[in-house]
Amino acid sequence: MGKTVIEFQNVTKQYKLYKNDKQRFLSIFSKKVPYKEKKAADHLNFKIQKGESVALFGKNGAGKSTVLKMITGVTYPTSGTIKVEGRVSALLELTSGFDPELTGRENIYLKGQLSGLKDPEIKELEPTIVEFAELGEYIDQPIRTYSSGMKARLGFAVNVNIRPEILIVDEALSVGDRAFRDKCLKKVNSIVEKDNVTLLFVTHATETARKFCKRGIVMKKGRIIYDADIDSAIEMYEEGTSPKKSAQEES
Ligand SMILES: Nc1ncnc2c1ncn2[C@@H]1O[C@H](COP(=O)(O)OP(=O)(O)O)[C@@H](O)[C@H]1O
Ligand SMILES: [Mg+2]
Repeated sequence: MGKTVIEFQNVTKQYKLYKNDKQRFLSIFSKKVPYKEKKAADHLNFKIQKGESVALFGKNGAGKSTVLKMITGVTYPTSGTIKVEGRVSALLELTSGFDPELTGRENIYLKGQLSGLKDPEIKELEPTIVEFAELGEYIDQPIRTYSSGMKARLGFAVNVNIRPEILIVDEALSVGDRAFRDKCLKKVNSIVEKDNVTLLFVTHATETARKFCKRGIVMKKGRIIYDADIDSAIEMYEEGTSPKKSAQEES
């Protein structure tokens, strides 16, 4: 058995919902401002071993993004503990850590350094990243001149090529056109197979999940309701989402 690289122990994330922005603002100064509580993650317990590929299913609002954001440190649990070991590459907030005044190429270095790589290592990866991003001569322009699609492409190219140990993918992700998206998924597939990367994959596309993942976790209203092999997890998830079949269809 491999070593545990992600572990959630009794993790709960509670958001405070205020009536409006003014109330939210006032709450900074006064504890008396009323709010409702929303548990986006409710006592989650799971472990993921090195090299595992896990799909995370659930309807909108189930808490999937909240789990991913707590793993990447974008947000923190209200209670419970989270352990993460290894370099995390998240295909979520693709453009976080970019500096708009620097060129695409300079941002490759910036992001590489932020991820803990040394300059010679980044230099070695640079041609692959530049080629993957398909930005042509724009690679040497400041990225404030990029469209959001171009920024996302550069973000993806960097994140997926900096030799991640833990790869977190939210497929809802928009990275330009269909062809580029397919290329991204292919790349994810190849590094998962080759490099013993740990993959956590959020998607509604069950067939894509079956291709990439051996294990599936199903979430509902902030809780984990199922955690098993991918085939039975998909069955469980589809049971919960598909419209009720009529007796006729079932026969
Ligand atoms: N920043 C936030 N403030 C308040 N509520 C939030 C925030 N982010 C998410 N939520 C709520 O937490 C729940 C889970 O959201 P999320 O993790 O985005 O679900 P999913 O990714 O599965 O669609 C939802 O009900 C959502 O409205
Ligand atoms: Mg989400």
